[in-house]
Amino acid sequence: LFAGEAEFFWASAKAGDLPPMRGMEIAFAGRSNVGKSSLINALTNRNALARTSHTPGRTQQLNFFDVAKGRFTLVDMPGYGYAAVSKEKVQAWTQAIHDYLRGRTNLARVYVLVDARHGLKAIDGDVLDTLDSSAVSYQLVLTKIDELKPGEAERRVAQALEAIKKRAAAFPEILPTSSRTGEGMAELRAGVARLLTE
Ligand code: GTP
Ligand code: MG
Repeated sequence: LFAGEAEFFWASAKAGDLPPMRGMEIAFAGRSNVGKSSLINALTNRNALARTSHTPGRTQQLNFFDVAKGRFTLVDMPGYGYAAVSKEKVQAWTQAIHDYLRGRTNLARVYVLVDARHGLKAIDGDVLDTLDSSAVSYQLVLTKIDELKPGEAERRVAQALEAIKKRAAAFPEILPTSSRTGEGMAELRAGVARLLTE
């Protein structure tokens, strides 16, 4: 599924400026700098398909990537929360993110990324609330798992599980990942493949 080409085809410069719906969309959401763009690159085996940066606020639009010759679309979202840009800009993105998550009928799954070192924050809770109330299926992904000491990862996964157990639309498994070591990529690809055959 991920062996073929993945290519960029749309950036939504402003809220509501979305591509026509065709096929299934799978979106990657999360706070600024958690590693959304890096995860998309790791997943598609591309170094620089999605642009990454040390500075929070790199991705400033919803970016759409066509995968497996149009079988499905991956969506790289701007980060919510703090970013090295103006408060107004962050607010506008956050609005666009919530609008997209609420209103996109071909959105099959949202992967909500959380930095494994920091865990879930209140602002993540707001996004999970939007997803639960719109009945959009999502799964929590712990990122940068390579930064944790051995044993710590299990504790973080257990904490995340506890945090989502009462949530309606949450997939009841947490996915620990690292774009750096490739940990969790096989599981993530298998999850996407399952969505396509459901
Ligand atoms: P925004 O677009 O600004 O919201 O950020 P993002 O969530 O797309 O994060 P991005 O992929 O740009 O990565 C942010 C920083 O985290 C970069 O410095 C990456 O090198 C680093 N990073 C991403 N994934 C990993 C990982 O698995 N392990 C480690 N150690 N660092 C990572
Ligand atoms: Mg990004």
